[in-house]
Amino acid sequence: MTHALQSPDSSQKAGTKALYGGTSSRRITVRDIAAAKERGEKWPMLTAYDAMTASVFDEAGIPVLLVGDSMGNCHLGYESTVPVTMDEITLLSAAVVRGTKRALVVGDLPFGSYQEGAVQALRNATRLVKEAGVGAVKLEGGERSAHQIELLVQAGIPVLAHVGLTPQSVNAYGGYPVQGRGEEAAQQLLRDAKAVQDAGAFAVVLELVPAELAAEVTRTLHIPTVGIGAGVECDAQVLVWTDMAGMTSGRLPRFVKQYAQVREVLGGAAKAFAEDVVGGAYPAEEHSFH
Ligand code: KIV
Repeated sequence: MTHALQSPDSSQKAGTKALYGGTSSRRITVRDIAAAKERGEKWPMLTAYDAMTASVFDEAGIPVLLVGDSMGNCHLGYESTVPVTMDEITLLSAAVVRGTKRALVVGDLPFGSYQEGAVQALRNATRLVKEAGVGAVKLEGGERSAHQIELLVQAGIPVLAHVGLTPQSVNAYGGYPVQGRGEEAAQQLLRDAKAVQDAGAFAVVLELVPAELAAEVTRTLHIPTVGIGAGVECDAQVLVWTDMAGMTSGRLPRFVKQYAQVREVLGGAAKAFAEDVVGGAYPAEEHSFH
């Protein structure tokens, strides 16, 4: 499999279909995602939790936006993804759908919304599709979640699977360790990836997996792999937007690359506003009505 590097210019020359940089303005579907794997095209994915930020990423051409349960840490002030509820994911997914025109919006099924079994998964995934308008859902787990994936796909709900490190199991892991290290763990990860593909997932997130193993999974599967801390050979890459844009405070995982310092810019704007107010420079004449 060759992975053609895509920039808006090069992909536009290549045609109108590229997920990133293509000229089509209709909403991306899971068929477009499958076609990108066939073309060997890499694509970017970001998280989003509100309409305004989602519209920025949509206008930037990000083809897939995940309303991740990472909203727990990044948006709602929880310590992990575990407390996030269906009500919270549904509300914020609807906002992201409203803020976008082109991106495929994927809603995350939070902890406790699908572990009881396939029927519970179907009930909650259906809610996300009907109430929020998402085009697909994501859930964690490989072999252990195959039944859930199968039923959702049969019901017409596209599923993005998630294997490797599954953050909803943070209490069982006792942290966020790299997964798939050692022969036995690597074989289990391969089985998990194949199980979600066989169950009908349209793509699979590989989180915190050694790059060589992620490359092997990517070569083995016919569905795209979406890496996060899983090396460069994955078909797609996802980052939590607050990490990517430098909004998150504190220590970041090693796999994160910051492309801006939004926290600094925003803090600077807030301080400049405060100083203007305190010093009487705001509002000025042009901001006032008479
Ligand atoms: O919830 C989330 O944002 C995720 C991605 C990091 C894959 O699961």
